Amino acid sequence: MLGLRDLGSEMLESILDRAESLLPVVRDGAASPVPERRAMIGLLFLENSTRTRCSFEVAASRLGHQPVVLTGRGSSLDKGESLVDTAANLAAMGLDVLVIRSAIAGGAALVARNIGIPVVNAGDGRHEHPTQALLDASTLRARLGSLAGKRVLIVGDILNSRVARSNIHALTAMGATVVLVGPPPLLPWTFAEFGPGVEVTHDLDGVLESADAVMMLRIQLERDAGRAVASDYRFAFGLTVDRLTRLGPGVPILHPGPMNRGVEIDDAVSADIARSSILEQVTRGVAIRMAIIDRALESGAG
Ligand code: NCD
Repeated sequence: MLGLRDLGSEMLESILDRAESLLPVVRDGAASPVPERRAMIGLLFLENSTRTRCSFEVAASRLGHQPVVLTGRGSSLDKGESLVDTAANLAAMGLDVLVIRSAIAGGAALVARNIGIPVVNAGDGRHEHPTQALLDASTLRARLGSLAGKRVLIVGDILNSRVARSNIHALTAMGATVVLVGPPPLLPWTFAEFGPGVEVTHDLDGVLESADAVMMLRIQLERDAGRAVASDYRFAFGLTVDRLTRLGPGVPILHPGPMNRGVEIDDAVSADIARSSILEQVTRGVAIRMAIIDRALESGAG
């Protein structure tokens, strides 16, 4: 699972269905089927992470497998060892699957070409974050039913967002229109070239009322995006209480986290019980990662 670009709607829906069937394990602690063999799931996390890393750990444990975590700090990457060499060493220890997050776009794919076990991309630089977009699609499908013909606004630092890129692939494949919204330096017109089903605008207020769902994104300061935004960012692109009143009552609000409260989203908005799907995304994330680990183990065995 390196990206969602070429997955197609049938495969996407089948992963979401599988995750849906695993949801009771996450929500209510229902027992999941005991695996024939306890697999070792390596988690190589070379960028900061709260949700994604814990979510993969919880998912592996819930399936009855053993997560093995290596983070960048304290590893031999600090001594100049390459990503591929690090991954090859973990694979040589007999791991069954390797989940990788790194700042290198294409890093997970590079590793996958060089080691003999299935690789899952948990975020590769600005490129893709497939399991995040799958959990977003799962949340949207649960709230909206079919995504066909729905308009999903993705608002914020699109340029630096792997979450936006993976969502563009997934949501358009499932029939939604993705409306990208952000300040020009963080949303060049070239994004319109993603193809039919993708719209680009720099005017949030102009499209707000057409939304069936709204996904807010963080400004990625670690990718230098802070220099590209003006101090009135919240005024132009924040999901404020005032903007919330202009959304329909059933319009779900998503955010992959971490939130910068008071910048892209106001406190009262993230706390709007009826519309905020932000913690629902996190719960569904575990089920998605369970489905993805299962799938990876099957492909590794095949
Ligand atoms: C995102 C990421 O790391 O790409 N977070 C996540 O995985 N939940 C988005 C972000 O960091 O803003």
